[in-house]
Amino acid sequence: MSSFHKSVRHEIEQSRIIDGVALSHTIDAEVSDAIFRLEQECGQRPHLAVVVVGEDPASHIYVANKVKRCRKVGIESRKIQLAANVSQETLLGAVEELSTDKSVHGILLQLPLPQGMDAREIIHAIDPAKDVDGFHPLNFGRFMAGLDHALAPCTPQGCLRLLQTEISDFQGKDATVIGCSNIVGKPMAELLLQQGCSVTSVHHLSHDIEGKCRAADIIVAAAGAPQLVKASWVKPGAVVIDVGINRLRDLGKKPGIVGDVDFEEVRKVASAITPVPGGVGPLTISYLLVNTVRAFNNQLGVFSDEQLKL
Ligand code: GUN
Repeated sequence: MSSFHKSVRHEIEQSRIIDGVALSHTIDAEVSDAIFRLEQECGQRPHLAVVVVGEDPASHIYVANKVKRCRKVGIESRKIQLAANVSQETLLGAVEELSTDKSVHGILLQLPLPQGMDAREIIHAIDPAKDVDGFHPLNFGRFMAGLDHALAPCTPQGCLRLLQTEISDFQGKDATVIGCSNIVGKPMAELLLQQGCSVTSVHHLSHDIEGKCRAADIIVAAAGAPQLVKASWVKPGAVVIDVGINRLRDLGKKPGIVGDVDFEEVRKVASAITPVPGGVGPLTISYLLVNTVRAFNNQLGVFSDEQLKL
């Protein structure tokens, strides 16, 4: 066996599963510590309002998890539940009220909204200082321009933190991001650029997606396509982050969840890979908590970023 193949074999045997649950516990402890220090300084705790419209079961599970994680770290939270047939005006009024309520420091509008409602109009009504999702155009623009104090979208921040467990120096690395949504793909590409990577963004119109992935040291898959990324798409030793959450029941299969990566195959080639579930998902909520604490700290002007240590 050539030394190249020996080293590939070695990588295969050493392929790591990046544990998002364990990392989320670490971040939760950092958030708890920051909240403790903030409360000592200003006598208040951050307060998050979560607005959920309708009865979508997946949204209710996500919201319950968010509320539970808030409680765990010491963030106060309230859930505003509105009926599926609520009017756009009523929802807009509820969000405007939360935007002016000084006791609320973060606002999250759970998406998707029921069909026929205009999410964009509601997101624009969230006070940008309280926009813990980082979806308001002012935050998105500030973030894309690399300005300080922008609240950045949570999932890409979580992906970067997962990558940092494997990669200490991003400069000059080649990264391919599959998917170009405003929530994940575009901000992910921007974060990797800020780290010094050369970034390729691919989407459904791209030519040779497979080749563009195979050239990459880092792959972030956020396509919403079950098990799209195959072993032949991955350079031996690459780090693979799987953002996908695809419900098998929706695909007419036995219940369960798969990502956008063919995990069992790709784990034989990658140096490290995130599982689904237990990879990116817990980190998205961690960064919701981080953004809520950052928003609170910015609004009250308690600590500098260095003092906040988040
Ligand atoms: N629905 C699914 N994921 C998310 C998220 O990260 N933020 C919001 N607001 N809604 C979601």
